[in-house]
Amino acid sequence: MNIHTVATQAFSDQKPGTSGLRKQVPVFQKRHYLENFVQSIFDSLEGYQGQTLVLGGDGRYYNRTAIQTILKMAAANGWGRVLVGQGGILSTPAVSNLIRQNGAFGGIILSASHNPGGPEGDFGIKYNISNGGPAPEKVTDAIYACSLKIEAYRILEAGDVDLDRLGSQQLGEMTVEVIDSVADYSRLMQSLFDFDRIRDRLRGGLRIAIDSMHAVTGPYATTIFEKELGAAAGTVFNGKPLEDFGGGHPDPNLVYAHDLVELLFGDRAPDFGAASDGDGDRNMILGNHFFVTPSDSLAILAANASLVPAYRNGLSGIARSMPTSAAADRVAQALNLPCYETPTGWKFFGNLLDADRVTLCGEESFGTGSNHVREKDGLWAVLFWLNILAVREQSVAEIVQEHWRTYGRNYYSRHDYEGVESDRASTLVDKLRSQLPSLTGQKLGAYTVAYADDFRYEDPVDGSISEQQGIRIGFEDGSRMVFRLSGTGTAGATLRLYLERFEGDTTKQGLDPQVALADLIAIADEVAQITTLTGFDQPTVIT
Ligand code: G6P
Ligand code: ZN
Repeated sequence: MNIHTVATQAFSDQKPGTSGLRKQVPVFQKRHYLENFVQSIFDSLEGYQGQTLVLGGDGRYYNRTAIQTILKMAAANGWGRVLVGQGGILSTPAVSNLIRQNGAFGGIILSASHNPGGPEGDFGIKYNISNGGPAPEKVTDAIYACSLKIEAYRILEAGDVDLDRLGSQQLGEMTVEVIDSVADYSRLMQSLFDFDRIRDRLRGGLRIAIDSMHAVTGPYATTIFEKELGAAAGTVFNGKPLEDFGGGHPDPNLVYAHDLVELLFGDRAPDFGAASDGDGDRNMILGNHFFVTPSDSLAILAANASLVPAYRNGLSGIARSMPTSAAADRVAQALNLPCYETPTGWKFFGNLLDADRVTLCGEESFGTGSNHVREKDGLWAVLFWLNILAVREQSVAEIVQEHWRTYGRNYYSRHDYEGVESDRASTLVDKLRSQLPSLTGQKLGAYTVAYADDFRYEDPVDGSISEQQGIRIGFEDGSRMVFRLSGTGTAGATLRLYLERFEGDTTKQGLDPQVALADLIAIADEVAQITTLTGFDQPTVIT
């Protein structure tokens, strides 16, 4: 066996963000850049020798190259076995499942999620721990610390592994098992949902459309919806994973999932539509001429959980990220369940799920999931909705509107300002932060400020503390606005403004959220001087 120890120099910019290390492809192609980060992951871990690693990615440009490098480095660093998806393909929730199902030590996911791909697009790498979830901050901090002092990495000199051939291959002393990317995940879904009932409903005329956005869910969705549930061929479209996602932006929202939006808001719209993101953990749910906000979706899944086999016996609790609307809190209250508010980032749900304090989790950023894995799960959310539709035999719009009548409506919107100059963005945040102490009690328009702070989270399970997780201004009537800088971008800064207002009056629940939130939007601009300080006169994306 020919193991090389290669001398290298540390890079100063390998600090993982909201979800792993994300950079533009040319950055990852710099000499030793990927190798340094992978070695830093291994160096930060203890006890993995001889153990199993799960490895796969969303198929974006550089996926296969990175996988070959990681396999050779894993062999040189003493891993016992690596499970890799065929062709290097594994969705993020599928990795999470495989880690758990195989008792793996951890997993490496290659993806930049919803960011565009291709030679000039983005790439990313993320480490997941043995519970199947994204590494918590203490692990990512340790990886970063290793990356700052790394001097060498280890790699096996060997030919490439055939990633397309199923079965075992040997790489030095390590076994590489190329596995079917879809089979185990699909079995897991069948164990959670009432496939027979959904199949009947599809046969009975429920028309659905699934947009995989040329990303990783294509093969998963085709197997599950067309083969197993018997939906018509062509139900899944944009279903072939492409290295550049067909030039698109694989983010399932009203702006980027335009093919699906056109279909569902067009003349012969189907009853239900859904889209997933690059790595398959996000989802967008649409009805015929109807958009379900991710915050409402979480609340509705929670309220209807007893209709789904896996959750028939009830939920232990619900968690949502801080900027996500409080719609789920209302359901939790009605069902007498604990409800947790965490910082943005799925990793914060891991401890709550492991401790069985919660069963369902969700985020405004088009993410929902449960204790079945430790990642959010796009197709899981789609199947959950289909299970509800199959049982209730109502339309998506009817289900949502009935929900609002029962629990009230949390008008909600997120305004993104993408590509703001980093200096301008930090000036905005600094100025806003400096005003916080004097805001409480002040009147802004018709609203009185009840609290204004920087969100701080103390994990109820391990006591760890995360500071400065978003600036919140809450009003006495329960309305609020939140300001945060995105932690998933690779160039410049993205300012996110989250707005929410509760409406309990059933005669006032049918407004366009931009209208319902207009005065809060104006107040936000005034308090944070968004237009002046960013130089943008309107958001780039509104969801
Ligand atoms: C990823 C994470 C989510 C997070 C989202 C937005 O999808 O897994 O947990 O909510 O990014 O993060 P950002 O920092 O860009 O707002
Ligand atoms: Zn994703």
